[in-house]
Amino acid sequence: MADILRGRRLNPMDDSALKITSSVDADSRIMKKIVYVNAAHVRALERSGLLDREIASELLDALGKELDGYRLDYRHEDAHMCLEEDLRSKVGEKAGIIGLGKSRNDQVAASIRLEAREELLNLAKSIASLLGSMIEVSKSHTDTLFIGMTHLQPAQPITASHWVLNYAESMLRTVERLKLAYLTTNISPMGAAALAGSTVPLDRLYTSHILAFDGTVDNTIDAVSSRDFVIDIMYAISMIAFDLSRMSSDIIVYLSLGYIGLDDRFVSTSSLMPQKRNAVVAEILRAKSANLVSMLFNSIEISRMLNTSYNLDLQEITPKLWSAFDEIVSMVNAMNLMIKGISFNEEFIIGIARGLLITASDVAEYISMNYSIPFREAHHLVGEAIRMTENNRLPLAQNISSLLSGKVSISQQAIENSLDPQKSILNRVTFGGPNPEQSARMIANMNLQLDKLNTWILSEEKKIEKAYELLFSKEW
Ligand code: ARG
Repeated sequence: MADILRGRRLNPMDDSALKITSSVDADSRIMKKIVYVNAAHVRALERSGLLDREIASELLDALGKELDGYRLDYRHEDAHMCLEEDLRSKVGEKAGIIGLGKSRNDQVAASIRLEAREELLNLAKSIASLLGSMIEVSKSHTDTLFIGMTHLQPAQPITASHWVLNYAESMLRTVERLKLAYLTTNISPMGAAALAGSTVPLDRLYTSHILAFDGTVDNTIDAVSSRDFVIDIMYAISMIAFDLSRMSSDIIVYLSLGYIGLDDRFVSTSSLMPQKRNAVVAEILRAKSANLVSMLFNSIEISRMLNTSYNLDLQEITPKLWSAFDEIVSMVNAMNLMIKGISFNEEFIIGIARGLLITASDVAEYISMNYSIPFREAHHLVGEAIRMTENNRLPLAQNISSLLSGKVSISQQAIENSLDPQKSILNRVTFGGPNPEQSARMIANMNLQLDKLNTWILSEEKKIEKAYELLFSKEW
């Protein structure tokens, strides 16, 4: 095999060394983007007057011919050299100009950035769909009683809608993190060449523009060294995984308590115990989230130990990024389907809510606010009444009433009202709280944010699509 790189200087590399240093396996993911970067480079060379239009056009045709058809061979080290070799077989030695003013160092960074921005948009789409499902579920459950926990103990009444919306809000913040990662990703390193630019008068802004980048990585050393955008993405992905894991744990607990139901398609049973409905998808999502955090650490660790500028260590980070994208998209999609099929066992919840005394704080607030009793005193009084109830089995309202008698005149009915978990939801006045009016406001807001997100995704996708179309066109 003709050695395109080692030329007339070096003897062939040992096969084992080639195999361990080659990136062809991971490169298939960015092959198309490598072609786009090369097409942009051809246009930049043409624009600088170094390549006449006819040859440029021949090179563009050859490049664009079979975007998916490049054969990757580890003996060429990586996809970048495979492409150059392929081009040479198609157009002859004039393909060699493609290496002028460009190195694999800026080319690989550019290709990873192009692929990553699309994968970010793809992930954002999956999240948008999950958010859409959460909004749908929340809409139909603004007054479905649910039991909020602290310390994994029954705490206060909420609604199913309020519960689901809490994940949606958190997930919306992860979208902001994805957008930030998009900003650090979508800048062009092209023209930096190996690290110090070149003597070739290439217009870096032009190359950046025709690849629909939002700007350039200015310093040429930084352009080839930096993989912080990968870490930004991995962090954003880890935070999404974090949310999915937290949701999964909650789903597992609530399913176990019988508060919620999951569609049959998302539970498994036991080979021995036929009564089992195990939330195995949620369990796997929880474990997979740990894998994603490890990938983040792994990328940080590889980057951390490097000297500035290109080192082949960077090549080991890239496949982690693609695996992280694949994992998180499948995880978000699985959660989406699980949430769509979630049901709330409202009757059961109403039945047990009272016995869990989750409105004890409501009655303390009621007494404190209406009878000028300091909250701490009211809290103690209700606490005492709870102890009495545990001992004498009389209803809590009755025990509260007897503790208050002689101090304030309060009807037992009023106490009963404020102990009613369903009424408690309506009595809550806090902005952002579980009152159905608040849920309706938050759902409307969430819908607005979702529209914005979808508009952003679409406009970025259009920009990219148009740029790629023009790359191979004969419009100069
Ligand atoms: N295969 C390399 C990567 O994926 C491309 C850049 C190689 N550059 C070099 N000077 N060997 O990062």
